Parts: sequence; structure tokens; C-alpha cells
Amino acid sequence: MDSDYESLGREVHVHSVQVARFDTMTLGHLRKLLDAVEQERLGRLLTTARQAEYMVAHGMLRTLLGQYLKLDPLELRFTANAYGKPALTSPFGTEIQFNLAHTNDRVLIAVTRGRQVGVDIEYLAPHLPDPSIYVSLFTEDERLALAALSPLLAQRGFYTAWTRKEAFIKATGKGFSAEVEADYKRSHGGDFAAIDAMERVSYTPAALLAFLSKGDVKPQGGGR
Ligand SMILES: CC(C)(COP(=O)(O)OP(=O)(O)OC[C@H]1O[C@@H](n2cnc3c(N)ncnc32)[C@H](O)[C@@H]1OP(=O)(O)O)[C@@H](O)C(=O)NCCC(=O)NCCS
Repeated sequence: MDSDYESLGREVHVHSVQVARFDTMTLGHLRKLLDAVEQERLGRLLTTARQAEYMVAHGMLRTLLGQYLKLDPLELRFTANAYGKPALTSPFGTEIQFNLAHTNDRVLIAVTRGRQVGVDIEYLAPHLPDPSIYVSLFTEDERLALAALSPLLAQRGFYTAWTRKEAFIKATGKGFSAEVEADYKRSHGGDFAAIDAMERVSYTPAALLAFLSKGDVKPQGGGR
């Protein structure tokens, strides 16, 4: 797994991990890395599958950030903005940026330096969700473009559009709003790069990812 801090200045590293590949002993080790707040959140999760996902997501996040920063993962302290986007507290988090997403056994962690990053992953359900769930997230133009796709392309098109926008929103860390929507519209061909890792990074075919980051982006896949 590439965790070279210097290269982060030019690149976004996307680490993709499959939860089922972690045995009980490793999960126990990752669990011990969690602080009191994370342990409390873990304790509130009802199923063992969700708990394993959480331990992998947050245990691996600490492990990776510890490797980049050459610090003990237990030393790291996190904070969150008003919308819940997590970040490292100063002095650790002045430069390094990260974002994570998890769904159905897959965890993605994107790490970079000095630029915003957001990541999203969705399970490719055989049927599209009910429009009432996403109607407010897509603009009329996007809805028309999606409606024009053949049934064969509709599923891929829908999840690509969804994960890109969600990743953009997560990069801004502001939640969905008219202002963020306007930024998203402007970003096509602008400062932000959208990368659909389905084509770029090898991982489960049951999911799609998009991430966005300001500046020169060179994706680096890491996997387990
Ligand atoms: C909070 C939100 C990012 C969670 O999205 P999700 O699809 O349920 O979950 P994901 O797996 O993609 O991401 C979860 C992780 O994102 C991070 N996160 C939480 N709030 C965030 C925010 N405001 N911005 C960026 N990242 C955030 C956390 O690390 C979280 O992991 P944790 O819960 O284990 O701590 C999402 O609900 C949100 O606010 N989206 C805003 C856009 C919106 O309204 N979308 C509608 C549905 S598409």
C-alpha cells in the first residue's frame, strides 16, 4: 500500500478495502485503535456486519493516516465541521485531507494534501431507487439526461451521476444546497476533477465510486 506523504502533494491516494477479508483477530486489532467517541459510535451499531464495516473504516483510516504522518494511530485526534465532515485536529490536520465512504462490505478512503477531497461508493442495486429518494438531488437537466438513457445504461448512468455528485458534496463538506449545486455545475470542466474509479481503480464490480479534488489529480489505487 502506497502511503508516501511527499507524493500526496501531487496525488490523491484511494485505498479500497473489502471488509470480509479481515479476520476476527485483525478486526480486534483495528478496534483497539478507536478512541472513546468511535467506540461509542461502534457500540450503537446493531449488526455485526455494520460493526465490522465501522472497525475497518475507522481502524484503517487511523492506520493509513498514521503511516502518512509517521505517527502512532492512537495519537490522532479528529474533529468534524458543522455538517459532520471529519478532519484531523491541528497540528496533524493542517494539510492532510481525507474522506471515507462505506457500503455493503467495501470501504474507500481517499487521502491527499492541501486540497479538498470527497469520495462516495454505492452498491449497484439491480433496481434503481424510487425517484422520490433522489429527485431533489438531481437537476431537471440531469433527470432528463438520465431518462433518455436506455434501460441497459440507466443503472450505470444513475449511479455514476449519484456518486459524482455525492462525492462533490462530500469534498465541499457543506452538505447539499443550492450554492453547492451551482458550484457543482460550474465545476464541470473547471477546477474540479471527477474520476469514476470503476474504470481507473480495480475493486468490486458491485460498486461505483467518484471523487473530486481541486488541482492536479493522479489517482493511486490501494487494495486489499
Ligand atoms: C453525511 C453523508 C456524507 C453520508 O453519506 P452516506 O452515503 O450515508 O455515507 P458514506 O459511506 O458515503 O460516507 C460516510 C462517511 O462520510 C464522512 N462524512 C460525514 N459527514 C460528512 C460530510 N458532511 N461531508 C463529507 N464527509 C462526511 C464520514 O467519515 C462518514 O463515515 P462515518 O459515518 O463512518 O464516520 C451524506 O448523508 C450527506 O450529507 N450527503 C450530503 C448530500 C445529500 O444530501 N445527499 C442525498 C443522498 S445522495
